[in-house]
Amino acid sequence: MQVPFSPPSITDVEIAEVLDTLSSGWITTGPKTRVFEQAFCERVGAKAAVAVNSCTAALALALKLHEIGPGDEVITTTLTFTSTVNVIEHTGARPVLVDVCPDTLNIDPEQVERSITCRTKAVIAVHYAGHPADIPALQAICDSHGLKLIEDAAHALPAAIGGRTIGGTGNLTTFSFYATKNLATGEGGMLTGPPELLERARTLSLHGMSRNAWNRYGANGDWFYDVLEPGFKYNMSDLQAALGVAQLKRLDDLQARRAEIYNRYNNVFARVDGVQTPVLRLGCDHAHHLYVLRMQDHNDRDELVNRLREYSVSTSVHFIPVHIHKYYRDRYGYSQNDFPVAFDSYQRMVSLPLSPALTDDQVTYVADKVACVIAGARKAAA
Ligand SMILES: Cc1ncc(COP(=O)(O)O)c(C=O)c1O
Repeated sequence: MQVPFSPPSITDVEIAEVLDTLSSGWITTGPKTRVFEQAFCERVGAKAAVAVNSCTAALALALKLHEIGPGDEVITTTLTFTSTVNVIEHTGARPVLVDVCPDTLNIDPEQVERSITCRTKAVIAVHYAGHPADIPALQAICDSHGLKLIEDAAHALPAAIGGRTIGGTGNLTTFSFYATKNLATGEGGMLTGPPELLERARTLSLHGMSRNAWNRYGANGDWFYDVLEPGFKYNMSDLQAALGVAQLKRLDDLQARRAEIYNRYNNVFARVDGVQTPVLRLGCDHAHHLYVLRMQDHNDRDELVNRLREYSVSTSVHFIPVHIHKYYRDRYGYSQNDFPVAFDSYQRMVSLPLSPALTDDQVTYVADKVACVIAGARKAAA
């Protein structure tokens, strides 16, 4: 049996929305993108949203809106995808990496506070694997030091902490709709936050032009536009938005299936010695984006990944900590053990297949093979 890591769940609902857009005569940013933005705002309780072509683009816009630039420092977690940090580097600011909490693998607020200097301008919290970062603690730190808090919610649709939905906290928050994400448009992203900031983000997302193509070529359009500031080519097309509208309609069902698979893994692995299952802190709603299992040591992890590959089960590792990538190591002189929790967890972790498109048989197959490989390894070691 083949088990892909994270296949998309595409049904007649997505196909109908895309066909509707294809036959509408308008396929780039336009009415479908607006429908998607409005539906997304309602779903997460945001006051405003701008659809873009990736979470990376949304993060870059968030930094721009907060005027981050050369001489500034931005604190973030080392246990993230490199784009969270690359966007800081592109502004000319210095990314200041910190370690994570051992339970959730989210950025550790105490270490954030210890890393603040007079140059610190912002903190980017990543909601790792779909477990919300400790926003109340981070918000208190940021507020008391006059810092901006940006939330990288690439994994966190939908998640909540203390009854507040991620995306509706009032901070600039960025979502990913990459092919493997909880809501997938192939490529895509969303920036949510205060309407007064997002108005500028909308302009910046399309070259800084005062009018987008829909406003110029539409029935009531006007050819004239002005360039208000040099912007970027970050806009989402109506074809992507069509997928987004459909996936958003199905989000509750998709999430229910994700939770089912996640809990199934949890139940099976709770009875297996030598593995650490993911935690859920009190007051948090998890988005169940990734199922990250931690082994006792990295030999167990490597053995498990290799054996699962032989069984045609695809896995991944989230993430190779940013501080051990060549560029960041060389530029900032990091060494592996600078962030021991992230580095140790990285060596022991594996992300198992998780997608609403997986069948019960596939999930049972993965759980059985994992349990069997670990039991075999423990017997051999005894
Ligand atoms: C934590 C995190 N942030 C940002 C991104 C970037 O998302 P995108 O591919 O939509 O730019 C990813 C992508 O996987 C991610 O995992």
